[in-house]
Amino acid sequence: MLERMEFDSDLKAKQWYNKRFSDFGVFETSIKYNSLMLKYLGLKEKSDKKLLDVGCGGGFFLKQAEKFTETFGVDFSSVALNNAKKISKAELTLCSASSLPFKNNFFDFVVCLGSLEHFIDMENALSEMKRVLKKDGKILIYVPNLNFILFKLNPATAHQPNERLASFNEWKKLIEKYFLIEKTDKHTHNPLGKLIPKEFTYSFVFVGKK
Ligand SMILES: C[S@@+](CC[C@H](N)C(=O)[O-])C[C@H]1O[C@@H](n2cnc3c(N)ncnc32)[C@H](O)[C@@H]1O
Repeated sequence: MLERMEFDSDLKAKQWYNKRFSDFGVFETSIKYNSLMLKYLGLKEKSDKKLLDVGCGGGFFLKQAEKFTETFGVDFSSVALNNAKKISKAELTLCSASSLPFKNNFFDFVVCLGSLEHFIDMENALSEMKRVLKKDGKILIYVPNLNFILFKLNPATAHQPNERLASFNEWKKLIEKYFLIEKTDKHTHNPLGKLIPKEFTYSFVFVGKK
């Protein structure tokens, strides 16, 4: 696992995100990507289930998920949450992923999309995600591949200061300390990415339960 952790406290990391999002806008995920993530959760029709997005950023996934579930989002960046508030109906909480303000076994779905690798204490966040997920609930985690060709050619491609890149097996080993992994997949944003072998793909998807 490649660890590039410039900040050792949530306070400093949060200040970096708030400045980045104020200066350049929040990161935006595409409708296609968000739909794919919903597909991994098996969400096709409206239900009264509850979904939590940990490190929800600007709320683009939540906006699409709310067609199917009650939605909740947490992020430590107030700038990100202000965007999420504008575009989604989700119940949003400004907090760190290492201390989720929810009861045990509360959510049917917990997702963490492109965020786990930035949390200073990943294991604490995973344990919190597990705590708030129902026994028959689903977890969906999306994380970057250390061996993605562009990360190798240009390490600045993964451009956030607090970031970890890891191989499929390293992510699997970490995630299965907390969850039972039921399905994995590879992902790239490029349509030709399907041709790239899993080992060199951009990111990995892990779907499981506790
Ligand atoms: C790369 S963005 C991903 C955002 C969103 N999930 C998406 O797919 O666009 C990472 C997000 O994690 C948030 N974040 C980083 N560390 C966090 C922490 N310890 N607690 C809560 N949010 C955190 C950042 O503010 C940022 O919005």
